[in-house]
Amino acid sequence: MSIYIDPAVAASLRGFEMPEKLGFGTVMAPVMFRAVCQDGCWSQGELVPYAPLALDPAAKVLHYAQSCFEGMKAYRTQAGGVSLFRPERNAARMAHSAARLCMPPVPEALFMDGVRTVTAYCANLVPATSGESLYLRPFLFGTQADLSVSASTSYEFYVIASPSEAYHAGNMRLWVEREDSRAALGGTGDAKVGGNYAASLRSVARLKERGYDQSLWLNPGNRNTVDELSGMNFFAVINGELHTPALSGSILEGVTRDSLIDLARDMGYTVHERAIDIDELLGQVAEGSCDEAFACGTAAIVSPISLFGDGGREYPLAKAPGPVAERLRQMLLDIQEGRAEDKFGWMHPV
Ligand code: COI
Repeated sequence: MSIYIDPAVAASLRGFEMPEKLGFGTVMAPVMFRAVCQDGCWSQGELVPYAPLALDPAAKVLHYAQSCFEGMKAYRTQAGGVSLFRPERNAARMAHSAARLCMPPVPEALFMDGVRTVTAYCANLVPATSGESLYLRPFLFGTQADLSVSASTSYEFYVIASPSEAYHAGNMRLWVEREDSRAALGGTGDAKVGGNYAASLRSVARLKERGYDQSLWLNPGNRNTVDELSGMNFFAVINGELHTPALSGSILEGVTRDSLIDLARDMGYTVHERAIDIDELLGQVAEGSCDEAFACGTAAIVSPISLFGDGGREYPLAKAPGPVAERLRQMLLDIQEGRAEDKFGWMHPV
């Protein structure tokens, strides 16, 4: 499919100044990709200057949250090029999220056109510092102006980009969330939809007041096994082996999670995907057989956990940051930034 490039794009790019301090997701690239879908038919994609959107106040997304998104990254490689990390996995997950909310999937070719075009035009904005990257945020939402509760007949798909640092520096203090749930049984926990994140906000506000950084969400069915953090998957190191919650239906299937499992096995670690009972895990932290834990995600990369708080008790990890998290983080970044062989075929040069 051919892509229309708005003539104003060149001037937007020329006028952009990269700030010295990036943070995460606050500096926006001056261009964005856009395509629309009416009654199942997708338009040609276009690259346009980054600008506010015009939405009808009755648009379905504003009332019934018919919206999903992705998070993915383009890296500056050692050789000076720019590569996307496993973009086909994000395209597939976005199609899964869209289907869960009765939205038309963005065709894989259009999704790839979007992320490739934005990355190619923003190649000069991909940071060269290790751990920094061009964070890409594709998103899709229903725009039909109609207050009846039904799937929209019209949709918009965008890709915006943000030169960013990693989302979390690490040494996170986790709060075991025993009251709220992020997702429901049969709900949208395994889809990347905004509602999951909105549902996590009250817990995060409460835990910040208590001096913690992130909620550790439990399975909404049994409320006893670990699911994930808000926007990151979870790993524990127990007696030198890696344990991560098996995909339960309420966990987002993280691309970084999947990559770390492959990488860790390749590096000789035993990795278990299983139901992790929270009380058993806290017991193992207290007696020392679990000495390390970390979270992972596209935005966060690999982010060490320093302790768990549960009710009135705290369970510090003996190793924080721990050596397993550090080795995995470094190996993943070495592949993403072109210092190590891409033996899994994960990188897609743009
Ligand atoms: C990502 O890792 O890309 C995420 O979506 C997490 C984000 C909500 C900060």
